[in-house]
Amino acid sequence: MNNTLTITDNRTEKEYVIPIENDTVRAVDLRRIKVNDDDFGLMSYDPAYDNTAACKSKITFVDGNKGILRHRGYPIEQLAEKSSFLEVAYLLIYGELPGKEEHDYWNTRVMRHTFVHQAFTRIIEAFHYDAHPMGILISCIAAMSTFHADAKSIDDPAEREKQIFRILGKLPTLAAFAYRHAIGRPYNYPDSSRGYTENFLYMLDDMNERGYTVHPVSARALDILFILMSDHEQNCSASTMRAVGSSRVDPYSALAAATCALYGPLHGGANEAVVRMLEKIGSVSNVPAYIEQVKQGKMRLMGFGHRIYRHYDPRATIIKKTAYEVFEALGTNSLLDIALELERIALQDDYFLERNLYPNVDFYSGIILQSLGFPTAMFPVLFAIPRAAGWLAQWLEHIEDKEQRIARPRQIYLGEGARDYVPVPERADYRKWLESYAPSAG
Ligand code: ACO
Repeated sequence: MNNTLTITDNRTEKEYVIPIENDTVRAVDLRRIKVNDDDFGLMSYDPAYDNTAACKSKITFVDGNKGILRHRGYPIEQLAEKSSFLEVAYLLIYGELPGKEEHDYWNTRVMRHTFVHQAFTRIIEAFHYDAHPMGILISCIAAMSTFHADAKSIDDPAEREKQIFRILGKLPTLAAFAYRHAIGRPYNYPDSSRGYTENFLYMLDDMNERGYTVHPVSARALDILFILMSDHEQNCSASTMRAVGSSRVDPYSALAAATCALYGPLHGGANEAVVRMLEKIGSVSNVPAYIEQVKQGKMRLMGFGHRIYRHYDPRATIIKKTAYEVFEALGTNSLLDIALELERIALQDDYFLERNLYPNVDFYSGIILQSLGFPTAMFPVLFAIPRAAGWLAQWLEHIEDKEQRIARPRQIYLGEGARDYVPVPERADYRKWLESYAPSAG
């Protein structure tokens, strides 16, 4: 096969042959296409990066049309059923599942780093009682860069690894402290003898009970959610991690930026938005009227639709199954019936079918988290903790990629041409304002 693309520029009638590699042309090859020598050359315009690959990656594979998600080649269904979050984090970061010794070493290192500097308790104390925990988490992650100055040595693999242990270990502790601050209870310090999600639930819940145990169904459900949320290739927050990391800043600063990106309601804030939407709908009988409003474009059906899945999000299928396991063990959730009815109606309505809008990972995750006892404001925080594993894997791959430089997109400038500066009193608008203002002022 001739792996090239022939382009004829009808402005000049010149022909260009451009190589195709991995079913992709290099945007920079288009720059050869010029009208004359002064011409900058052709660019491609791609708002929201709909059809632009910004990197080569070996971490996560998604086929949105077929509903496939694999990490390092392993199907998400197998990982969710058989693996643990910490093992998947290792897989994302190192590229292979750990052997027995590596597994134990990795778990021990991460759990040993669950303690945070005592100053973080004072930082968190400074926040108002109703501060959003995601705002607190973002601030604490950014602050972490000031506590670990060695993190600036991003070209040293040993230093990088140390920051990875710290980040994965400390995020649940900071998240738990943010939560305890909001409910006015003293902080629980980590118990590294427990599993990753078990320790997190313990820090959130324990009221100094003797022999406090975490319900195994809760710990496993949260672990599965963490596996499902751990990475999703070049989404808004992962791209942010790569873009900010490309400036060679320390990983804490890049991770704080990625966490900000995740905070938005169209991204990691969606599961919070789903629960708020279900609460607003209030009852199954109100569902048809709500769907009508969505179809009229008055609002979006939160938890539906995805930029790359044009079919059922495979994570949503696993989450729906996990939801039933949680409800069986801990009692059902009143919002479930509304969600099921929304899904039933939407999946047979032409509006949603024509636009390929199916439930995404967030449609059921919020209901599970609510059943586990998490307040709605904690939902994006619970997304950020596992996604940190994916961000770190994406960051490592990016900073080691010799083809990458500092991220710097181009623009199509459509503003004014060159013009001369006019002093303030001589500007037309200024005089108009002065005239209309003067009479009443007098
Ligand atoms: N409800 C109703 N209509 C929708 C929805 C929705 N949830 N999502 C998309 N549409 C409609 C759009 O209005 C548009 O219709 P039109 O062609 O008549 O104008 C069409 O479907 C295409 O929508 P886009 O906005 O082009 O889709 P895009 O790929 O840009 O958006 C997104 C993806 C942001 C996820 C969108 O589907 C959405 O807002 N969903 C709700 C929020 C949500 O659940 N986000 C979580 C995503 S998963 C995650 O981040 C982990």
